[in-house]
Amino acid sequence: MADERCDAAAEEKLLLSRRQFNKWLIGSIGAFIATATGVPVVGSVVSSVFSKSQGIEVKLRKLEDYPVGEPTLAQFTITRTDGWQHTLESRSVWVLRTSENEVTVFNGRCTHLGCAYNWKESGKEADHFVCPCHDGVFTKEGEVVAGPPPRPLDTLPIEIRDGTVVITYKDFRPGVPEKTEV
Ligand code: FES
Repeated sequence: MADERCDAAAEEKLLLSRRQFNKWLIGSIGAFIATATGVPVVGSVVSSVFSKSQGIEVKLRKLEDYPVGEPTLAQFTITRTDGWQHTLESRSVWVLRTSENEVTVFNGRCTHLGCAYNWKESGKEADHFVCPCHDGVFTKEGEVVAGPPPRPLDTLPIEIRDGTVVITYKDFRPGVPEKTEV
């Protein structure tokens, strides 16, 4: 009997330390990515139930931190946990504050084949989003103006909660004219 109690206590201790280890591991991986790539990890989201169709909630910055009319990149990692296994997936979105109280957030993947696109401030395509993979070009509002992308940039559901921009991140099927969740 005493041995059974002892086993249960030992097991509980082991479970606790596994949980602590998992937390430490996830935090460390996020910190490593930020250090190794020099890219600020705006958010690190841990989810064991990330459903691609339902999406995942990601808290970005305060709305007031985004300059009006200037697209701002936000990058984060999604960590899927499955027992001991952790899979990190990088994601990005472009935040465009359109007025004092309004904001649009685009999924960071090009609607052609899913490459990461960038905002061009100067040069030939100044003030446009440009995808380097096949020269896709979008307006600041996400409309296609050149290249093969079959639809505008994909917008994401947004909520302003206590002044903070909160999005529901989702992925969409690339290469098709309709915005279809995957
Ligand atoms: S993936 Fe963006 S233009 Fe092809």
